[in-house]
Amino acid sequence: KIREPENESYNSYAPGTPERKALREEIDHLKNQEIEIPAIIGGQEVKTGNLQDVVMPHNHRHKLADVHLCGEEEVQRAIAASQEARREWATLPWEERASIFLKAADLITGPYRYTMNASTMLGQSKTPHQSEIEAVGELADFLRFNAYYLQELYEKQPYSPGGMWNRMEYRPLEGFIFAVTPFNFTAIAGNLPLAPALCGNVSLWKPATSSIYSSYYIMKVLKEAGMPDGVINFLPGSGADVGDPVIESELLAGLHFTGSTNTFQYLWKSIAENIEQYKTYPRIVGETGGKDFIFAHNSADVDALVVAAIRAAYEYQGQKCSAASRMYIPESIWPDFRDDFLKEVQDVKYGDVEDFSNFMGAVIDRKAFDNITSYIDYVRDSDDGEVLFGGHYDDSEGYFVEPTLVLAHDPKFKTMEEEIFGPVLTVYVYEDDQLDETLELCDTTSPYALTGAIFARDRHVLKKMSDYLRQAAGNFYINDKPTAAIVNQQPFGGARKSGTNDKAGSAANLMRWMSVRSIKETT
Ligand code: SER
Repeated sequence: KIREPENESYNSYAPGTPERKALREEIDHLKNQEIEIPAIIGGQEVKTGNLQDVVMPHNHRHKLADVHLCGEEEVQRAIAASQEARREWATLPWEERASIFLKAADLITGPYRYTMNASTMLGQSKTPHQSEIEAVGELADFLRFNAYYLQELYEKQPYSPGGMWNRMEYRPLEGFIFAVTPFNFTAIAGNLPLAPALCGNVSLWKPATSSIYSSYYIMKVLKEAGMPDGVINFLPGSGADVGDPVIESELLAGLHFTGSTNTFQYLWKSIAENIEQYKTYPRIVGETGGKDFIFAHNSADVDALVVAAIRAAYEYQGQKCSAASRMYIPESIWPDFRDDFLKEVQDVKYGDVEDFSNFMGAVIDRKAFDNITSYIDYVRDSDDGEVLFGGHYDDSEGYFVEPTLVLAHDPKFKTMEEEIFGPVLTVYVYEDDQLDETLELCDTTSPYALTGAIFARDRHVLKKMSDYLRQAAGNFYINDKPTAAIVNQQPFGGARKSGTNDKAGSAANLMRWMSVRSIKETT
């Protein structure tokens, strides 16, 4: 029996520690070699010759790798390889599958720790701490806790009165799962193909172009952990070249997605168009956008609010799906908040992540840089909002955007409403006696409902705010920042236009990848 795991602990990488030295050595090692990243189909490395550069966001002239991009031919080969692997994988006792996952977690937290951290730092421009908490900690937690949840599920069996034996057989879905993964979390990228695989499914994995580098190291870990060939097939490539032929396959049994709202809706519609030809109705699980909020009452602790706002808005350059990007503050505490915030944010250093003293790196790529800076320019040109802090940007070496604070004069100002996915926080100051109206605004201003935080010391007010905002966030935080959910502590996911809310890091998510056979046997 698997014991309930503990969350993985994090290295601090403080000056003078041996782990800091080891991480630096791994960074140098990875930077000074340029690798070739193949597709991996049925365990074989496949080099298509259709190459794309993988560069560092904080130094875009530095190339880390060449990646071989896939198309229709590789997709068909991967589908065939997955079905070949499925025969054995689907009927393997769950313990055998779980043991591979537990082994992979130990490799990630052991010999591959610095590789997972450094590849995420360099390829996705994360600080050592941000990489450690997810590319090491969260990824290992997903692997260990999912194995534990699976055990619990298999143990859950129905009642059998005398004369019969009722049981539930947890079967994987027939066909394959398509995992489409995001750039912003190495852990989520790994979990999307892995959670279904644990349940006996096989998958085709299309990593985001800008996180192929760390995703490739996950494939290496899995191979070493004993994952059979063909269970997870790694297909770098564009959405159209890889995604379209995958969706047209009659064997598509599920989509496990994290990424943009537009892409998710496009995939959902394409699945709907093909619905008649699938062997089984595909399960669709997705996590998409957010316009996550911090809502303060005038009884809030201002110091706590400032720390929460800075961390939630600027860690990982505001590119967490959970990042706070709009804030509601009452007039009476606004001057204190503003002064403290402006003082603290001066110390938020950004730049090259290889300088460990930086709090922020670069945004992921040119497209993100252009999009974020277009919002900053919009604010500058508008009468309904103003830049209170930051707003500078520079892409000459890396895609750097300064942590930026915007004041909205209108609660429906563009940057209060639209997802920006960058280090831009917009504040709206409300009149203290307009609490109800402002809660209503918070609930209705954006179509998303991923994360949100409320701050107050008055318990009655907390209850009221929580009730008002019941549907406004899938992950809701009281007197804490709305980021950094931990596996087995705050199962993660949002509703409305943020996704299907099938909580990653919980048994509920695993259930989506299984189709139960109820068996009654007369004895
Ligand atoms: N799990 C991450 C967080 O909570 C977001 O995906 O910050």
